[in-house]
Amino acid sequence: MTSCFADDLQSELLDRQPFKFHHKLLGHPALSLDNLARVLPTLPQQQVMYSKGLLDVEADFESTFRKKPRDRSLEETIESIRTTDAYIMVRSPEVDPSFQDLYKGLCGEVSALMKARGVGDMPVGAQLYLFIASPNSVTPFHIDRYSTFLMQFRGSKTVTVALPWDDRVVSQADREAYVVRQNTKLPWSPQIDGLSTAFEFSPGEALHIPFVAGHHVRNGPGDVSISMSIIFNTRESIRWRDALSCNHVLRKQLRRVGMAPGKVGSSAWQDALKSRLWHGYLRLRGFGD
Ligand SMILES: [Fe+2]
Repeated sequence: MTSCFADDLQSELLDRQPFKFHHKLLGHPALSLDNLARVLPTLPQQQVMYSKGLLDVEADFESTFRKKPRDRSLEETIESIRTTDAYIMVRSPEVDPSFQDLYKGLCGEVSALMKARGVGDMPVGAQLYLFIASPNSVTPFHIDRYSTFLMQFRGSKTVTVALPWDDRVVSQADREAYVVRQNTKLPWSPQIDGLSTAFEFSPGEALHIPFVAGHHVRNGPGDVSISMSIIFNTRESIRWRDALSCNHVLRKQLRRVGMAPGKVGSSAWQDALKSRLWHGYLRLRGFGD
């Protein structure tokens, strides 16, 4: 099976803080432009999202891909990506056989990390994402509802990442609303960069972005950027996700009496209780487990 991560991965920091390390997948044939140009047109249309035009760091990342008109074919976009402003995001390329050994190798190594951290045996909902972007393109500020290992294959980029759970970067109410998909436009200001770390990122390097850590990405001016991430949840991040969803509902109710729920992410037993409450609430509303 493919060996993916180098020994400088700091497993004890999983979902605690962002960190850079190295991957061993440079030169893997699945990531060549030739293979990508072959595979992408064969994938179901809903797995390949692409936009043209440079985005701004303050743009609404998720709705961009929902709203952008598809006025250029994928083949044309790949063809012209070096000279035009374009951005292609591919969900689950592992459905193609050329990505299978990569996917299995990555899942196996994430699984070993999770066991070492005591947060479960297998990654939950593990998926690959591919990002192919023109020079200078920007992924706007957002948080993720999962944990990420991002690997760079071509071109350079700056990935600016804050600590997870920093309420000065993303307020508790905004974090909760984002996780339940009520609001995917997070406020951003230059002060947020002052509270974050800017990682310069080049081929062969990898970066961990913790669950709900605010981040944005700016590609370097020199070349097309090709990167791939594996996203997944752990037993711990699922508990956080459920507790954040529960807090979103509690916050609306408690606001009427001038109160607010306790913060998610600071007490494991409170988060576990809120997670159970959330599942009870879903069952009551007819969305059973
Ligand atoms: Fe992200």
